[in-house]
Amino acid sequence: MPAPDAPFVTAGLSRDNACAAGRAFLRAAGVEAAAEDARALLLAACSIDRLALLTAAAASVSAVEAQQYRLFLERRAAGEPASRILGRRAFWTLDLEVRPGVLDPRPDSEALVRLALRVGRRDGTAPRRILDLGCGSGALLCALLDEFAEAFGVGVDLSDKACAATRANLASCGLGRRAAVVRGRWSAALAGPFDLIVSNPPYIRVDEFAALDREVRDHDPWLALDGGPDGLDAYRELFAATPGILGHNGVIAVEFGSGQAGDVERLANQQGLHKIDSEQDLVGRERASAFAPT
Ligand SMILES: C[S@@+](CC[C@H](N)C(=O)[O-])C[C@H]1O[C@@H](n2cnc3c(N)ncnc32)[C@H](O)[C@@H]1O
Repeated sequence: MPAPDAPFVTAGLSRDNACAAGRAFLRAAGVEAAAEDARALLLAACSIDRLALLTAAAASVSAVEAQQYRLFLERRAAGEPASRILGRRAFWTLDLEVRPGVLDPRPDSEALVRLALRVGRRDGTAPRRILDLGCGSGALLCALLDEFAEAFGVGVDLSDKACAATRANLASCGLGRRAAVVRGRWSAALAGPFDLIVSNPPYIRVDEFAALDREVRDHDPWLALDGGPDGLDAYRELFAATPGILGHNGVIAVEFGSGQAGDVERLANQQGLHKIDSEQDLVGRERASAFAPT
């Protein structure tokens, strides 16, 4: 789609009208969540929250706010996700920092959190030792430690940037003292035992890369996406190592791509793990499964 004209947002416009102009601009640029993104970017440009927009919708935007808003809108229209522009992402009940070079955590991954909460409590006790393999921004680890208040967590990632982002998010969520972050290849440097292991590993097939949304292709790191020729490389490694680090009654819960549930289950079965539960994403596709030793 050709780039639309510059957004019509000038100083003196009411916040409400600025928001409407931003929405129209993003719609014309083909942005799917135009209304939501226009509002989020306006709130950031004016440094206000949703309540201030609702209760003072007629207040005018200043010249500085209008200029900032126009810049944000232009970046969004050029394909940069709103979460990347704002450097923030709401995940589960938390507000997380999103950093360049680190996967932007997606709402779909909340399916894995829901599943992990269910299987983690399945025998009436809560897990004490949690491991997040490929922790990225730390979204899963932060959500689980926030929910399991007695647990200690370990996050592992091969990327230095991801390890730094996880540490920052743990600290800002007040969870830093209940977690350690290790740079390494999956569980290679760890001994266990863990009660609950979670992972949202890379699962994109190499031949799918060209067809990815440009918002993913241009902004998420390839290390976080590359699942190898059949998209399943990481699951082979993860499941092979699981029996050695899973505690008594322990569970591993993993996220996967749409249509991969059967293949992931087969790979788990080959390592003596059987499926005990699963969870769907926001549009009803099976996107996470939990496995325990047979
Ligand atoms: C799909 S992202 C998931 C990030 C985060 N857990 C989430 O759900 O938002 C996969 C993560 O695995 C990491 N990763 C890829 N290969 C790895 C490996 N061999 N060992 C450890 N981490 C790896 C990537 O750097 C990336 O942060």
